[in-house]
Amino acid sequence: TWTTAAFVEEAIREIRGKVGNKRVLLALSGGVDSSTLAFLLHQAIGDQLTCMFIDQGFMRKLEPERLVKLFHEQFHIPVQYVDARERFLTSITGITDPEAKRKCIGHEFIRVFESESRRLGPFDYLAQGTLYPDVIESADTNVDPQTGERVAVKIKSHHNVGGLPKDLRFKLIEPLRKLFKDEVRRVGRSIGLPEEIVQRHPFPGPGLAIRILGEVTAERLEILRDADYIVRQEINRQGIYHDFWQAFAVLLPVRSVGVMGDQRTYAYPIVLRLVSSEDGMTADWSRVPYELLETISNRIVNEVQGVNRVVYDITSKPPGTIEWE
Ligand code: XMP
Repeated sequence: TWTTAAFVEEAIREIRGKVGNKRVLLALSGGVDSSTLAFLLHQAIGDQLTCMFIDQGFMRKLEPERLVKLFHEQFHIPVQYVDARERFLTSITGITDPEAKRKCIGHEFIRVFESESRRLGPFDYLAQGTLYPDVIESADTNVDPQTGERVAVKIKSHHNVGGLPKDLRFKLIEPLRKLFKDEVRRVGRSIGLPEEIVQRHPFPGPGLAIRILGEVTAERLEILRDADYIVRQEINRQGIYHDFWQAFAVLLPVRSVGVMGDQRTYAYPIVLRLVSSEDGMTADWSRVPYELLETISNRIVNEVQGVNRVVYDITSKPPGTIEWE
């Protein structure tokens, strides 16, 4: 029978056998897959592993700090923190089309990844948190026709975009490739990853940038990040985080009139998107208590400068999508 302990032991043996004394690069995303992967590799090869975290500036409030801290303090794994926030924001300025945003972020990611991996490298292997369903999906695209080995042509966290340059086509190391998501979660839990990572809701690669409709600006990012933080706080306070597939805030690029004290306000609306789903392919808007909506709405309007209205999205998927972009 399959046990996490046996898997970890076998994975470590396999990594050591494959890597030898070579160097491995891993791009952390903050999710359960890349975190578990980092742990396994670090156990197996210690400082032959370089973990890199590229901060695009589109993560949720406090998440980059928490991730780096967790790795340092709990796992004693050093993380190369790459602060690319300015770069990403500059590159996305003026772009309003959802797919153009994704492309722009994806290309920027590849560029940063490329220069950072040259700066920190050279590396022989790229570790990816490929899971069994991904292996099936990319069966032929990732195989070197000469050697039959799987090679990196894309970065998994940004699978919807751009490829790696030819001379950066690392050999792949994919210790999770036989696992399904729930097995990764079990392994993650068994090695001491906190529940907030193990059971984290899906979070899109382009992050908050696709939850700000229209143009992404520093001001809008700050507003959305604060509103989103309140949504999560209230849901956690109720102990219902796991009732949702995703639960988040979206910022609309329009403004409406409101009143605060004896002042007229003219500010952004925030949309609450709380959905249940099995796999993200279809989703149902969540019938949450009015009191929860009320608390979230009051807090956002009172605490987040620049927001004067909160609306609840009652559209299921289909016909709506989960994200607004
Ligand atoms: P939609 O909005 O299409 O989302 O109903 C379905 C699931 O996919 C996630 N999603 C993304 N994930 N990059 C990602 O890594 C993306 O560009 C992206 N767009 C949507 C979304 O959060 C939901 O879980």
